[in-house]
Amino acid sequence: MTIPVLVNGAKGKMGTMTVNAVNADPELTLVGTTDKGDDLVAEIRKSKAKVVVDFTNAVVGHDNFLKIIEAGAHPVMGTSGFKKEQVAQLTELCQRKGIGGLIAPNFAIGAVLMMRFAKEAAPYMDYVEIIESHHEKKLDAPSGTAVRTAELIAEARQAFGVQAPAEKPDAEDARGGLYSSIRIHSVRMPGYVANQRVVFGGTGQTLTIEHNSLDRESFRAGVILAIKKIVGTKDLAYGLEELL
Ligand SMILES: NC(=O)c1ccc[n+]([C@@H]2O[C@H](COP(=O)([O-])OP(=O)(O)OC[C@H]3O[C@@H](n4cnc5c(N)ncnc54)[C@H](O)[C@@H]3O)[C@@H](O)[C@H]2O)c1
Repeated sequence: MTIPVLVNGAKGKMGTMTVNAVNADPELTLVGTTDKGDDLVAEIRKSKAKVVVDFTNAVVGHDNFLKIIEAGAHPVMGTSGFKKEQVAQLTELCQRKGIGGLIAPNFAIGAVLMMRFAKEAAPYMDYVEIIESHHEKKLDAPSGTAVRTAELIAEARQAFGVQAPAEKPDAEDARGGLYSSIRIHSVRMPGYVANQRVVFGGTGQTLTIEHNSLDRESFRAGVILAIKKIVGTKDLAYGLEELL
């Protein structure tokens, strides 16, 4: 028995990659593709998809998650832009419905490791800033990966009692945005796929942890793994690492 999969946002860059990846895997069957203007709930029901992979955009991602659950399928959300409150609300929804889902800020294993190593370094260094660079078409800023990294660093710093140093910038904008008390700087420029540097600072030293997605193929293995692991789960996983 193969897993029936529907890809939403199938005409986009990540959707196209996912359609090809699902078609190439003998354990998966592509039963449907949808994009803007399609009736997602009806298509999921008609195709009997068990898993729906969503690569659309930050404006519609939350709504799509609700529709996928409503249709009784497991959502695998690659779409970025989920807010902390939304993750909490969707965690509760998944538990209530008994349908597991995934919100993955990044499907590249290197990025998952970058977040993990940043979390490990966080308690030992007083200063930290995140610089993320993406292609010019990315709608949301900061990226979901940067937000998740900031959350993980903040949790680790809190647990070890590290305080962010005080500062008084003349122009607040010049210091990037503050997320979970961590500075994030977002660069949008043609040529980038996805790059993130987490720069830590201590007395007389810096430590930089950098991940670079050079090609969208870097996300492929993570998407396929998520589809296979999500079937039968009953909770929301936030981050691919929860399925590894
Ligand atoms: N998690 C990850 O590892 C990862 C990696 C890359 C990109 N992303 C995210 O994935 C999303 C898609 O990225 P992309 O580069 O493929 O974008 P894209 O613009 O190439 O594709 C988005 C597709 O979604 C479609 N769409 C828009 N609204 C829709 C709706 N309401 N219903 C169905 N389809 C709709 C568009 O028509 C388009 O075909 C973005 O949020 C991006 O940040 C995540």
